[in-house]
Amino acid sequence: MSDRYAVIGRPINHTKSPLIHGLFAQACGQTLVYDAIEGEPEGFESQVLQFHREGGLGMNITAPFKLRAFELADRRSERAQLARAANALKFEDGSLYAENFDGIGLLRDIEENLDEPLRDRRVLLLGAGGAVRGALLPFLQAGPSELVIANRDMAKAVALRNEVDHPRLRISRYEELHEQTFDIVVNATSASLSGELPPLPDSVFESTRLAYELAYGKGLTPFLGQAQAKGVKRLADGVGMLIEQAAEAFAWWRGVRPSTQAVIEQLTIPLR
Ligand code: ATR
Repeated sequence: MSDRYAVIGRPINHTKSPLIHGLFAQACGQTLVYDAIEGEPEGFESQVLQFHREGGLGMNITAPFKLRAFELADRRSERAQLARAANALKFEDGSLYAENFDGIGLLRDIEENLDEPLRDRRVLLLGAGGAVRGALLPFLQAGPSELVIANRDMAKAVALRNEVDHPRLRISRYEELHEQTFDIVVNATSASLSGELPPLPDSVFESTRLAYELAYGKGLTPFLGQAQAKGVKRLADGVGMLIEQAAEAFAWWRGVRPSTQAVIEQLTIPLR
């Protein structure tokens, strides 16, 4: 019988994870089955445990279950703990392990695929929810000269700063960003999902090399449109992050890290 994996979320019908993991398995010469499971609001935990009982070896977790997956696990990585969320689970030696590869996936996409290392750069991260929590440790480890987190609700940003006290980390209100410029600006808010624009002053884009939108498949979102109008040359959405986090999970489960380039080329849709 083939090794079994799955992604669980709600809704799950648009997921690209089975396609991505299928391509990875093919490229690595591995045989596995990777399904998509529609999660039940009442029965998510039983579904995960049932999948394990049926022989499943690992799962990817997507919205809205990342926190519940984290809580269900017996053991959690440091980055999953900071994110308070799991995007990958592994069943091993009778234990359920939680990981979070979203942040490292984002970092790899920016540094390796888009060739914009964070070292000594001024980086602006918009938002203070789960996505930013996941990105925080990998971003700080990459050595930016400054990492600024801007959020509307300052209490959330303050809570985050209190958890991660780092000399290069600063929090800010949007209105305080006037007259500051950033090399890399990442929109990790959920604003684009509803076609909204974070209240970001145009001036932040004056010397920006890369504007990155975490949402993917949404085309030129209001945030990317604003960056483009201010002359930012490099615009990206989160499809590369999706593929890179999948590669990290694949490596964690299978012990082999697949090459991501061909899959990125296949799944990238030009931003218009
Ligand atoms: P996720 O897990 O995707 O990060 P989340 O935890 O619900 O989702 O967090 C959503 C983030 O998007 C929050 O930082 C939220 O800002 P507030 O905390 O100030 O509410 C941010 N967000 C959502 N809509 C926004 C908008 N229109 N402008 C700016 N920020 C927005």
